[in-house]
Amino acid sequence: MPCEVLHLDPDAPAPEALARAAAVLRRGGLVAFPTETVYGLGADARAAPAVARIFAAKGRPATNPVIVHTADAEAARALAAAWPAVAEALARRFWPGPLTLVLPRAANVPDVVTAGGPTVALRVPAHPVAQALLRAADLPIAAPSANRSTELSPTRAEHVVRSLGNRIDMVLDAGPASGGLESTVLDVTTTPPRLLRPGLVTPAELEAIVGRVLRGDVPVLAEAPARSPGQLERHYAPHTPLELVAAPGAERVTQLTLRGLRVGWLALAPAGIMAASDGVTTRALPAEPKEYAARLYETLHRLDEAGLDRIVVDLPPSTESWLAIHDRLRRAATSSPD
Ligand code: TXA
Ligand code: MG
Repeated sequence: MPCEVLHLDPDAPAPEALARAAAVLRRGGLVAFPTETVYGLGADARAAPAVARIFAAKGRPATNPVIVHTADAEAARALAAAWPAVAEALARRFWPGPLTLVLPRAANVPDVVTAGGPTVALRVPAHPVAQALLRAADLPIAAPSANRSTELSPTRAEHVVRSLGNRIDMVLDAGPASGGLESTVLDVTTTPPRLLRPGLVTPAELEAIVGRVLRGDVPVLAEAPARSPGQLERHYAPHTPLELVAAPGAERVTQLTLRGLRVGWLALAPAGIMAASDGVTTRALPAEPKEYAARLYETLHRLDEAGLDRIVVDLPPSTESWLAIHDRLRRAATSSPD
């Protein structure tokens, strides 16, 4: 059965709609909702069967833990067995906002949330609808991105409906998620803290608060075009084969169109824009990482719907402010598109 879609004003969400969504969560259902990063697929984090439904709906492996969202730092702290000074300093600076902290789990966090591990990932989202929902439901909400596992994260309610529409109960549609890229995940159980997933909060912003941050397993910035990401797990990927090329990718785009392929070119503005030509759909994204992030998934979703044979993406600069974008693009790339 298709899910119910409720339209909300992002700045003044109607209390009646929030009460209905809260009721769905409280009875163990699944509600997708906007955050300032991407849309999340929420369930009552205290209820193991409800969280198990998230994994079933997404086709997510049980070994991949989910983030728990709370309305404020105090509620987050209640889910952690320890609250080190770095957590306090980071929470004060970045919450509510796109930072997820990994901490030792409290006993009241179900195993399904943490994938049986000793830690729990916690985040206080800033989006007014996420905040209002957390307060209306008066629950911690477990929420991964609201997409089938390995697919592109959703930045609009339509993306959620297309990916999960028949598998969930409700979607709160409050327009596009402004940040456009997932939160930064930082493990603060170690000293120094370790970056587990680069995201909207950059390493430099974290280091301004806590000193050194380990980059961990985060893929290093690409020096050269990555046509063969190899060891990287394919994730955050469109269905259309995607390849990364040194900017500007005009030459590669031309080469592919000469072979008769319909190509979507995600170019870096202002360089590399080529006049519209047959068989090429060009989309230029701003050469500034936060603005680029805000439009990346939205643009990939559109290109993916356009029935193209190939998506060619200009590789952004190799500086650390682009780290999260490099990470997502490399995971979206197809190892051997030819
Ligand atoms: O911006 C976001 O973080 C969005 C919105 C909805 O909040 N959520 C999101 O969730 O991106 P998800 O499930 O798509 O990604 C969560 C990431 C995964 O890489 C997961 O492995 C990691 O966080 N994670 C969750 N719990 C963890 C834990 N206890 N230890 C280490 N990593 C964890
Ligand atoms: Mg995800």
